[in-house]
Amino acid sequence: MKAYILSEPGKGPGAWEMVDRPEPVPGPGEAVVAVRAASLNYRDLMIARGQYFRGVRAGVIPLSDGAGEVLSVGGMVSKVQPGDRVMNAFFPSWESGPIYPGAIRLNLGAGNLDGMLAERVAFPASALVRIPDYLSYEEAATLPCAAVTAWNALFESSPPLATGSTILTLGTGGVSMFAFQFAKASGLRVIGTTGSAAKLERMRALGFVHAINYRMVLEWQEEVRRVTAGLGVDHAIEVAGGTLPRTLRATRLGGIVSFIGGLTGFSQQVSLELLLQAGARLQPIVVGSVAMFENMTRAMEAHQIRPMVDEIFSFGLANQALAKLESGAHFGKIVIRV
Ligand SMILES: NC(=O)c1ccc[n+]([C@@H]2O[C@H](COP(=O)([O-])OP(=O)(O)OC[C@H]3O[C@@H](n4cnc5c(N)ncnc54)[C@H](OP(=O)(O)O)[C@@H]3O)[C@@H](O)[C@H]2O)c1
Repeated sequence: MKAYILSEPGKGPGAWEMVDRPEPVPGPGEAVVAVRAASLNYRDLMIARGQYFRGVRAGVIPLSDGAGEVLSVGGMVSKVQPGDRVMNAFFPSWESGPIYPGAIRLNLGAGNLDGMLAERVAFPASALVRIPDYLSYEEAATLPCAAVTAWNALFESSPPLATGSTILTLGTGGVSMFAFQFAKASGLRVIGTTGSAAKLERMRALGFVHAINYRMVLEWQEEVRRVTAGLGVDHAIEVAGGTLPRTLRATRLGGIVSFIGGLTGFSQQVSLELLLQAGARLQPIVVGSVAMFENMTRAMEAHQIRPMVDEIFSFGLANQALAKLESGAHFGKIVIRV
């Protein structure tokens, strides 16, 4: 069977090479999945560029997110059966409950566990989640990392927000657009930033109550405060890292900042004075558990939320898909059909 491997870590787009691999055989507790689609996250670019902070193994099969059909199961598997349409969880050993060290032991698509950019994979069956009927494989493949992270930040790690409360998203990548969709479906108002004038128009058309171009409005945190009656938002989804001081100022006293990513790197300093003055709860979010994934999938089905798929690339064009992610031109998720 065909699979990609990370053959040149550090190269960025072009780091992946298509190779022949032996057919996977399901071990005890595993299912073999015929992968139909896989999706890209910013993390995959960091891994390919050699910038990822956890161990990366040359030769690993990339990508943490995929969806497909169960072909066969090994012994002691009762959760899924051949023919089931499934997605894989990002952290296969984190089944439920709060995060703990063992939950993040497996480093999918980077270090000690092969990822989903292959025609077939053997995966722990307990970490497979059924795809709701209304979603295609391409849509389902976008959910394991970005969507679960946004869901965890808003609904698993935070107290419920009253209808009409306001959240802040940064940019129009995967995590931010899922946060927007989940919040909007829950009756929350969403203020968002983007660095693109064209994307600004799309955001307004989709229902952001306010959209700000962070390249034009450098002090965008002041604009956020202005449109929230001087108070700031109730919950901010921080994915850029270097924006954290601004995000803290854009969040109300007693609000929440979910710290998720470092699109601009991880070297930003934040003063203790600012942290205390902001008076918001700063909570790191690390994707989520299988149970969170299942909770999210039920909510998505109830609201018929469809992931925003920017573009679908063919299997042979996987490196071009990574180049598009690197360009930042996408709106939502980039998918590879397998
Ligand atoms: N902690 C976790 O468990 C976890 C899980 C998932 C992701 N992450 C992290 O979260 C971040 C986002 O991931 P993703 O997969 O959603 O990324 P993505 O889809 O690649 O999103 C990239 C987008 O971010 C926006 N952006 C870039 N620089 C920005 C800036 N300075 N301010 C605001 N927006 C900016 C751009 O949107 P515009 O063109 O609209 O400006 C760009 O298109 C990454 O750092 C990723 O590693 C962490």
